[in-house]
Amino acid sequence: MKKFFIQTFGCQMNVYDGQRIANMLESYNLTQTDNVAEADLILLNTCAVRAKATDKVYSALGRIRKVKKESALLGIVGCVARESGSDAFRRIPELNFVLGPQSYHKLPEILENPDTRLFNIDLGGLEKFDSLPAMTKTPNVAYIPVQEGCNHCCTYCIVPYTRGRELSRPFNDIIKDSINAVKTGAIEICFLGQNVNGYNYTDENGKKYRLSDVIKEVAKIQEVSRIRFTSSYPTEMTNDLINMFATEQKLLPFLNMPIQSGSPRILKKMNRPDDLDAYLEIVNKLKQARADIQISSDFIVGFPDETDEDFEQTLDIAKKVKYINSYSFKYSPRPHTAAAIMPNQISEQIKSVRLQRLDFQLTENQRDFNLSCVGKEMRCLFESEDKTGKHLIYRTPYMQQCIVDKTDTISQLLKVKITDANKSCLHGEIIKDK
Ligand code: 5AD
Ligand code: SF4
Repeated sequence: MKKFFIQTFGCQMNVYDGQRIANMLESYNLTQTDNVAEADLILLNTCAVRAKATDKVYSALGRIRKVKKESALLGIVGCVARESGSDAFRRIPELNFVLGPQSYHKLPEILENPDTRLFNIDLGGLEKFDSLPAMTKTPNVAYIPVQEGCNHCCTYCIVPYTRGRELSRPFNDIIKDSINAVKTGAIEICFLGQNVNGYNYTDENGKKYRLSDVIKEVAKIQEVSRIRFTSSYPTEMTNDLINMFATEQKLLPFLNMPIQSGSPRILKKMNRPDDLDAYLEIVNKLKQARADIQISSDFIVGFPDETDEDFEQTLDIAKKVKYINSYSFKYSPRPHTAAAIMPNQISEQIKSVRLQRLDFQLTENQRDFNLSCVGKEMRCLFESEDKTGKHLIYRTPYMQQCIVDKTDTISQLLKVKITDANKSCLHGEIIKDK
């Protein structure tokens, strides 16, 4: 039997794409292997969001071409395929296929015609969702896209180029996918979209659906225990969705709503919402809807023209909102983006210092929050065994890792009393199942 190897880089949407690709190849009777040297088909499922992410893909390709079987088919799918286009073949002549994030359903064509090069980086819209076979197994957490692409055009971001304009999937398809996900193993559903809370679908009878409608419907599925969604655009956080945190207990009290910078001047240059008071008002409303809600953010430091004062404002907002589980990045100029050609690009050295200072603050926030959890009871979802084989790793409703002693039978959902915490994880004692 032929074997395939797949390595996924980047965001949750890519993790989802990787799972769909693996499922599709299995339907063609290929089996997955972790050993690239024995694979007959090798795919890198790639991310182009920062230059480093793209570089990683090309260095992995450099390593793989030395160890792969002579006859193995090698290719890239995803955002780097779209970013590089046919130039990818020039850089890595051994490549057999280059498929974009919306054309990877064409992959079986390379199995039929292994002697030709397959190239397709078209933006096929929602076509891929209809062309892929249904998932036959799903991990505890099912990622389900409700929309793909983005219309916001933040000036630093390559995603509108790689994933195209925003398209919302039909409501019924999302419900069908959610039902299939729980039937094949899922306990938690995480709705995905580059602009997930912008979900906006009108059916053939003119009925309009928003993300709150999707959450309400999926919460009715008995086997679904936890629901979350990522990633949210601040000004699309409408009242119907905020109210879901008050009324829908299956919705986890944790929200990823990136601010990127705390400086209105920089936010304007980023083409992001720049009214900090309006942002803080949304945070307030969320806290009113659910007192225990926590918020995470992504940050970019060293955007063109960012001054020390601008950066101090980013530190201020990180402290004020007490973001947890957040990510921070040095600004990276990307092709096809407006910011790449803006004047006053910031030096690597300044970016590094700012990143270090911001990370210090974010770690402080995380430690404070983790310590505040000690003594509390939380319902946690099984993730994996730890390396020693003596402990189990669970995820709290806030996506913290919680470590418990290994038991004979592994319950997927557990009530845990948090006994200890540090900046990176929690420790807990099992109270009882479910
Ligand atoms: N440089 C650095 N970080 C970026 N991000 C997106 N584009 C860039 C870029 N050009 C970050 C943003 C986004 C996250 C997925 O990646 O913070 O929220
Ligand atoms: Fe990376 Fe963005 Fe593409 Fe996700 S959508 S893989 S973060 S470039």
